[in-house]
Amino acid sequence: MLYIGTDLGTSSVKLLLCDEKGTVINSVTKEYPLSFPREGWAEQEPSHWYEKTVEGLAELVRGRGAEIRGISFGGQMHGLVMLDENDRVLRPAILWNDGRSSEECDFLNNGVGTDKLTRWTGNIAFPGFTAPKLLWVKKHEPELFARCRKILLPKDYLCYRLCGEFVTEPSDASGTLLYDVKNRRWSPEMLELCGIDEAMLPRIKSSFEPVGTLKKELAELLGAGEVTVAPGAGDNAAAAVGMGVVGPGRCSVSVGTSGTVFITSDRFSADGGNALHSFAHADGGYHLMGCILSAAGCNKWWTDGILGAHDYGAEQEKIDVREENGVFFLPYLMGERSPHNDPFARGVFAGLSMDTNRADMTRAVLEGVAYALRDCVEAARAQGPELTEACLCGGGAKSPLWREILANVLRMRLNIPVCGEGPAYGAALLAMVAAGEYRTVAEAAAATVKIGSSVDFDSETAAKYDRGYRRYRELYANLKDWFRGN
Ligand code: XUL
Repeated sequence: MLYIGTDLGTSSVKLLLCDEKGTVINSVTKEYPLSFPREGWAEQEPSHWYEKTVEGLAELVRGRGAEIRGISFGGQMHGLVMLDENDRVLRPAILWNDGRSSEECDFLNNGVGTDKLTRWTGNIAFPGFTAPKLLWVKKHEPELFARCRKILLPKDYLCYRLCGEFVTEPSDASGTLLYDVKNRRWSPEMLELCGIDEAMLPRIKSSFEPVGTLKKELAELLGAGEVTVAPGAGDNAAAAVGMGVVGPGRCSVSVGTSGTVFITSDRFSADGGNALHSFAHADGGYHLMGCILSAAGCNKWWTDGILGAHDYGAEQEKIDVREENGVFFLPYLMGERSPHNDPFARGVFAGLSMDTNRADMTRAVLEGVAYALRDCVEAARAQGPELTEACLCGGGAKSPLWREILANVLRMRLNIPVCGEGPAYGAALLAMVAAGEYRTVAEAAAATVKIGSSVDFDSETAAKYDRGYRRYRELYANLKDWFRGN
């Protein structure tokens, strides 16, 4: 039997076809545009997500439609998709890395107060979260807000178009700031505060529950029979499932467009320091998560955009992590989420001299992202867990140099799964559970996920990076006011 996992990413949708043992049969990636209409804003057209997914599905399946039993979704979190009474998209989706709602976040965190927000939702407001963006639309585009009848997250919009069910699930709902994570229901207080009715929000099902079947015309296009649909998970929870990071006390690190540190738990807990998100996991448990807004995105910006080079390996060839690097980089190209919650922060190179070369700067970019992830790891360590080991995924995990830098900066053993398609693979596993192939997410992961290799840190290099990390931390502390123009 075959299963489809989709990962609705920020630059492309990735589709994966695998059998019940988790063997990948085929994969297809379809890109779509991302627009930055103003500095710090990020938007995308939901219609592109749907069109590219359908185009990709036809290529993915190629003659094996009859064997497909299930499909599920992983996807970029927090995006705001608004539909009118005829299910027409009202405006481009406002994405997870969009920083326009700083005033709304000030109102929520300082006016309403972080204590109340944490009590109602388990979290505080960050500009990328859905509720502050909804308040921004209410203030700046009141006619659109008045016409809104449905509010969806990106992967849930895709699910709605593919099967007609208006559903979401706890892991992605957690990132809306409209959801009471602890009690697993929409928060009545937040709905009232935002002026929306619960009927505008999707029904909450579990990530691995069958909620419907693929629409007839789509199933016919693929040559498939009845294909069970499961809601899936936000991309980080889906990636964790795809790496076997299920059950309590596990950790994963992702270096994709964004970067995340994800720590599982079987109990709900909120981060007292408010640096980490307190979300539901796709296996029925919970997790804490730190998210940096630009991770592999920084390397893409630097290597493709600034250097105009496309051979990432060649740029990194001559770099030796054991040498000192006097150049530092703050990776805040889209502002920063964890731990600073600062939409005004920006990227910075520091410590340049006449003998600084291209490789030093490339290395500073990779190290700057690793230091930013260390901020998240330290925030998590402050909550208790030691964090000595993690699974690693995302485009950045393909670079052997970056893996080595990350292991040493984070002081962790990093395990690399054989299937590097984290969220799409996790989504396929959730589809398997929904279709009855496995009884639980843990069972599905145990039967399918394999770790291919591991990277360890060495104490001398890690000690050098401890010193670097202290220097790195001073940079933001010194520039914080400058970013705000003070
Ligand atoms: C998580 C977050 C990002 C996006 C990227 O909170 O905002 O990881 O999900 O796709």
